[in-house]
Amino acid sequence: MRILVTGGAGFIGSNFIRYILDGDRGIQVTNLDALTYAGNLENLQGVADHPGYRFVRGDICDFELVRELVQGMDAVVNLAAESHVDRSLVSATPFVQTNVMGTQNLLAAALEAKVPRFVQVSTDEVYGELPWFDPESPDPDAPRFTEETPLNPRSPYSATKAGADLLALSYHTTHQSDVIVTRCSNNYGPYQFPEKLIPLMVTNALEGRSLPVYGDGLNVRDWIHVSDHCRGLHLALENGSAGRVYNFGGNAERTNLQVVRAIASAVEISDELITFVEDRRGHDRRYAIDHSRAVKELGWEPLVGFEEGLESTVEWYRRHEGWWQRIRSGEYQQFYREMYGDGGRHRPPSP
Ligand code: NAD
Ligand code: DAU
Repeated sequence: MRILVTGGAGFIGSNFIRYILDGDRGIQVTNLDALTYAGNLENLQGVADHPGYRFVRGDICDFELVRELVQGMDAVVNLAAESHVDRSLVSATPFVQTNVMGTQNLLAAALEAKVPRFVQVSTDEVYGELPWFDPESPDPDAPRFTEETPLNPRSPYSATKAGADLLALSYHTTHQSDVIVTRCSNNYGPYQFPEKLIPLMVTNALEGRSLPVYGDGLNVRDWIHVSDHCRGLHLALENGSAGRVYNFGGNAERTNLQVVRAIASAVEISDELITFVEDRRGHDRRYAIDHSRAVKELGWEPLVGFEEGLESTVEWYRRHEGWWQRIRSGEYQQFYREMYGDGGRHRPPSP
């Protein structure tokens, strides 16, 4: 099987490619990634020389490039995206370009080349927010997002992801494209860019810096280890039904404050470093996922408990200080500029 993975140099993409190649699943991977600020080839060092792996630097918005790359592919797994909500509040245009226009390019090229399967990797944020429930007193009747929950995206990021989902599903309806949409809750684990809550707090804690919690810290997220998400994506790719949406969640609802306190405790620093800062604009109060469809139809369930997963993640950041320090110093951007010389939007020259 040959698959085109987009965004494979990012957090989930690099974990997904490693999962696919490490498992010796007979899958050949072409990774198309523009290496934006969030893309990092160091994330893939362990598989760079794998015979089943090829890297192409390029933009999913470049139709001619995408058209060439989808030839002969058995599937496209689209992970390329602008992924950070806070950045979308400052400038939404790159989100519209990559998340909407880029997805449209991939769908059109895949249709033209008759690629048999397309997995659109999406997010629970397209459903909007849920009423608040205290995760410390779990309520089995508290509402959760199902695949039938109406879309109600509330940030520019989630609006562009919802747009891409609807486009993807419309290709199934109108062109009978074999499209699957997956919607996952908040991921954490190794190689996550230190702008997202968990890696930001872990790296700040390791450096003894303050831990900036938005608002009252009571917003709830459902945390899933990235390895569970990657296994779900592989199952959806292999066994999902065309035109179907699958939710993935971690059975781990926590307030941000619970998460940050757990990190402070794991790093053995004082809670006094926690600082309450101005709230995110339009901050969604609670996400919670009902993933019973994935359990029933894909035989999937999350396997990594939150406490265990958080502990191993803190340990990973402890042991990979060079990785996040190089990101913080902006060293990669300089490296890529020198290597590719063009600000990051085109393919590298052939070796
Ligand atoms: P990330 O920001 O870590 O990585 C995104 C990758 O996409 C980077 O390697 C970047 O260089 C690449 N990219 C960006 N624009 C591109 C373009 N125009 N052309 C080619 N490559 C481009 O993101 P992530 O957290 O790994 O998320 C991956 C996908 O999973 C996204 O679609 C995101 O919406 C979705 N998702 C993320 C989470 C989460 O918690 N992180 C949860 C659910 C769904
Ligand atoms: O739910 C899935 C989504 O999860 C993905 O689609 C997104 O790509 C991913 O970024 C993530 O979005 P969130 O906005 O939920 O994640 P983030 O890590 O940015 O924030 C998690 C929570 O922590 C949120 O309630 C905001 C809060 N927060 C975040 C940061 C960066 C803070 O309190 N302080 C911070 O410094």
